[in-house]
Amino acid sequence: MKPIGKCILVIALSTLFALPIPMTAYSSEGHSHEEPQTDMDGFFKGASLENGSRIYFVGRTISGKPVERTGGPHWLYMHGGGCANCHGDNGQGGIVPMMCAKSSPPITMKALTSGTHKHNGTEEHHTPYTIETIRQALEKSVNPDLKPFSPCMPQWFLSDTDFRDLLYKLKELDK
Ligand code: HEC
Repeated sequence: MKPIGKCILVIALSTLFALPIPMTAYSSEGHSHEEPQTDMDGFFKGASLENGSRIYFVGRTISGKPVERTGGPHWLYMHGGGCANCHGDNGQGGIVPMMCAKSSPPITMKALTSGTHKHNGTEEHHTPYTIETIRQALEKSVNPDLKPFSPCMPQWFLSDTDFRDLLYKLKELDK
């Protein structure tokens, strides 16, 4: 191959690899202080508020199936319940759940993704959550800095659809 041909080939290849990788629904890092819009809008496409609310309030999906969970207080298994039992109907937290030693934080989408929230009237800061780290928080009981939660917070294992719907509910609680 002539040097000029090689050169064109190299340029062609490098432009190919330099193409921007499409933003996935999970890459909201770097926009933490803005409304987590654009990429999140795609994530919420087709979400069901009805299913999300049911999970939020009673820990069951719209089909009546309990969300798989472990940990947390015993009463959750005796009587059932959802996020609302501990984080409040409006997601503002500030509740010390039964059999727990710690007051629950607010978990509306803004409270989680902005990195600043009011908890019992006091301003608190944490590393802003992304969709990915919210899922990690639910499944592994750790915050974005991998600091473990109090054992009061159960672990929740949701399907992709149920997780999306629950987050849609948390977003709706910002209104
Ligand atoms: C039995 C009570 C209880 C239930 C039920 C519960 N939580 Fe929690 N949750 C807590 C407590 C207490 C904390 C604070 C833990 C800590 O900081 O150590 C917490 C922390 C969190 C956090 C971390 C917030 C932050 O600021 O870092 C998220 C997110 C969260 N819960 C989401 C949920 C969701 C979503 C549900 C329902 C699927 C739920 N929780 C159900 C008690 C509960």
